[in-house]
Amino acid sequence: MKYYLKCTICKASYQSDFESQICAKCRGILEVVYIGKPRKLGISGKSFWDFEAALPDGEYKHYVVGGTRLVQSESRRNIFMKLEMENPTRSFKDRGSVIEIAKALEYGYKEIVCASTGNMAYSLAYYSKIAGIKAKILMGEHSNPHKVSRIKAVGSASVQIISGDFTKAEDLAKSYAEKHRAFLTGDYCYREEGQKTMAYEVLGQLPGATHVIVPVGNATLISGMFKALKEMRSSGMIEKIPKLVAVQAKGSDSVVDAYRRRSDTIKYMRPTTKADAIAVGLPKFGLQTLEAIKETGGSAVAVTDREMAAQQLSMYKECGIVAELGGVASLAALPKLRYGITDRIAAIISGANV
Ligand SMILES: Cc1ncc(COP(=O)(O)O)c(C=O)c1O
Ligand SMILES: [Zn+2]
Repeated sequence: MKYYLKCTICKASYQSDFESQICAKCRGILEVVYIGKPRKLGISGKSFWDFEAALPDGEYKHYVVGGTRLVQSESRRNIFMKLEMENPTRSFKDRGSVIEIAKALEYGYKEIVCASTGNMAYSLAYYSKIAGIKAKILMGEHSNPHKVSRIKAVGSASVQIISGDFTKAEDLAKSYAEKHRAFLTGDYCYREEGQKTMAYEVLGQLPGATHVIVPVGNATLISGMFKALKEMRSSGMIEKIPKLVAVQAKGSDSVVDAYRRRSDTIKYMRPTTKADAIAVGLPKFGLQTLEAIKETGGSAVAVTDREMAAQQLSMYKECGIVAELGGVASLAALPKLRYGITDRIAAIISGANV
């Protein structure tokens, strides 16, 4: 779809050939705004690329990505698990990475840079290698060592562990991008567009889904899904938007806290969870998440590391599938939700890089 970019803070707008995801005036995050009404697409699309018409216009190489299975739980028949570990780098992050890499190539970049806690870097390292461009990865000093080795094993990325946390790594990534003409990637607008495909797939696989439960870190996934669901409703693909449920790890549950206080102010929390993929103190798309919950009649739930670990074990016992802690946050939230036997609930199992 044709689009332009708009700053979420100062509202400045830029043509689609603007080569950044950050506002040149105030350094705020940009969003993709489409020109015209979203198109009605075949809802039974099975492949990620069946939804290309819902993505920002671009020159996409059809890399392998998405099209993951949604399987019905044996023990809880109204629960359907979206198996995102079926993506090439074992998490949903690949959906956003293919869009960011395509944009980097389109604008003629030879290198991308990103700050990450692990899965996003692994995904970007993988696709930049396929695309033949360099990847500079900056990670906080407390990053999961298994994830660090996996990224290094891709073989093409330059990985730097900084002294400081993820927020500092993000600042360094921004300055690196400016100094070295590297395309800044991460939890920004093009990634959000790629994450949208999750909603298109889920609703195609489970028409009439009543709830979608989503693990939340920076909240790019849930806000992308909300954007997609609004597009789907406006094009007539669906009549009703399912309730969106945001799940955070206890201790880094700033959105849950704001939701409970019925406030629009999200307060930073220093993460203490072992679920590193969702250990985010102040989610970038937190306000969009509160709006998604409000508009869909959804909710926000916090789960403990112990509750996630229990789900990790039972998923392995029930289906032989290994997922990471943050990946099963959606299942851990189930006992805390109210739903009826006729409800059809999609639980996003977001990743499996243990
Ligand atoms: C496995 C997994 N689940 C959930 C999330 C949270 O996604 P988001 O940051 O888009 O909220 C991440 C992010 O890194 C992840 O890797
Ligand atoms: Zn701005």
